[in-house]
Amino acid sequence: MGAVPPDPDATPIVVLVSGSGTNLQALIDAADDPAYGVRIAAVGADRHDIEALARAERHGIETFVLRTADFADRSAWDAALADEVARHGPALVVLAGFMKLAGAQFLERFGGRTVNTHPALSPAFPGMHAPADALAHGVKVTGATLFVVDAGVDTGPIVAQVAVPVLPDDDVESLHERIKSSERGMLVEWVGRLARDGFTVDGRHVISPRKDPA
Ligand code: GRF
Repeated sequence: MGAVPPDPDATPIVVLVSGSGTNLQALIDAADDPAYGVRIAAVGADRHDIEALARAERHGIETFVLRTADFADRSAWDAALADEVARHGPALVVLAGFMKLAGAQFLERFGGRTVNTHPALSPAFPGMHAPADALAHGVKVTGATLFVVDAGVDTGPIVAQVAVPVLPDDDVESLHERIKSSERGMLVEWVGRLARDGFTVDGRHVISPRKDPA
């Protein structure tokens, strides 16, 4: 699969979003520190009028929107998304609450250097409703997973995971909020590491040259 080399300067990334953008905000805040090693070259979305785009605009970051409804089919949208992302020259693409699957054409160009964050401990509870599915299943621990995107639904090689307890009186919202507050820390830490140190993907394993201190 692909490889992202270490970058002596800030590594350009593109972040794709669909919602409130609290994960994006955490990356924006982190990238304000030059030592973090990441520059957000652009933020893209699949819909207008979302808080995530407003967060990027308030920070002077270039944005773009590509709605599937504006294309003849999903494959045309996928190709246009890849073109638009490529225009910003990212070393790494970060899906942060992006509610669309990357298609074959996108993966052909950005496979191995696109990561996604998912609000469950993969391989449990893939898909759009992970906190609700975890709650319905009665698990006592869930969490978030950062992974390298492949053609499946939340199936790619795992970069990092963080565990979060499920409390007895949780509803979907309270559980998802608890997951998100840990998810943001994981995302910031690992996007920084991947950007600064580079990484390769070998089968199911994501290898970053810096040794994990744990
Ligand atoms: C995150 O929990 C992400 O894993 C999921 O949607 C949520 C996005 O939250 N896919 P936000 O838009 O970053 O606030």
